[in-house]
Amino acid sequence: MQFKNFKSVDKCTFGRGTFGKLDSILAEKRHENDQFMVFLVDNFFKGKELASKVPAKPEDMLIFVDVDDHEPTTEQVDELRDTILATKGIPAGVVGIGGGSVMDIAKCVALMVKNEGSSQLYQGLNLIKKEGVYHVGIPTLSGTGAEVSMTAVLTGPEKKLGLKCDWTVFNQIILDPELIADAPRNQWFYTGMDTFIHCIESMTGFLKNTFSEAYGYKSLDLCRDVFLNEGCGQTPINDEKLMVASYFGGLSLTYSEVGVCHALSYGMSYVFGTRHCFANCIIFDQLEEYYPEGVHEFREMVKKNNIFIPKNLSKDWTDAEIEKMIDVTLALHHMWNHALGSDWKNIITRQKIKELYLKM
Ligand SMILES: [Fe+2]
Repeated sequence: MQFKNFKSVDKCTFGRGTFGKLDSILAEKRHENDQFMVFLVDNFFKGKELASKVPAKPEDMLIFVDVDDHEPTTEQVDELRDTILATKGIPAGVVGIGGGSVMDIAKCVALMVKNEGSSQLYQGLNLIKKEGVYHVGIPTLSGTGAEVSMTAVLTGPEKKLGLKCDWTVFNQIILDPELIADAPRNQWFYTGMDTFIHCIESMTGFLKNTFSEAYGYKSLDLCRDVFLNEGCGQTPINDEKLMVASYFGGLSLTYSEVGVCHALSYGMSYVFGTRHCFANCIIFDQLEEYYPEGVHEFREMVKKNNIFIPKNLSKDWTDAEIEKMIDVTLALHHMWNHALGSDWKNIITRQKIKELYLKM
């Protein structure tokens, strides 16, 4: 029996125009702590219409977050936390508006304004000492499941690992399909594929169960509508479907686990800073051995949407880089255990992982 007792998002609103309700949603929380809100907004929206619609009051802090060419780091979170505390004190709440990286940063900052020391100290399960402040997630890209997950992944000097505990989960999420309508096409695809891969991995492994399959099947159906079936592409109805697919994909993996692709992807992101969803696509493309049907369908989606997935990257990788990637991926016991079973250490040797990486 697999025992999980997971915390859900407290409140969720879904639908076109729900972003316009943010001000009234925040109103009842504004009196807490030092009575100001922090809005962390993806740099991408600087000078764009969405930024002008953020309901920031004069006392609030609106900070544009740079996640352009790297994954969120412990250093970045520590700096944001220190700046906020030094400028205004402890916020009433933190609102993250952006893709998975910005949402993860918002989760971490909400925890770290109440927990001393570097966020590095808290990378792992249930290491956070005190409940953070109220926090809201508003995705502008769909697929990572960051809006629903109880982890906030950070890359630190030692490891890439999430701040994972019940308090990490958002108190409120706003799923407004209008916000993902203008996603750059490649990012829309790569991020959406993260959900597709979450479902394939959660439903193919030793921890799969009826709960994760129910959400997974529905999420996969929605992904097919968005990326493969007649009428696929970036359309208003597909934006709605992708938002729900991401949410359901997140729930699917919550009661199961991710697998081989995510384990290898963490290694690649750690060493090269490759963005999570992009790394997943590069890796999943080469995992026929583990997910034959999923990889076949993935390639159809790539072709249908005319998306470029890089190949032959490993020719430029040094032995030291590959060894480090292997170290990082082998530390992800829970993923290997799910994908290959309790005997995984005898199946997935350093040599085998190296062979997989050399296919990329
Ligand atoms: Fe993922």
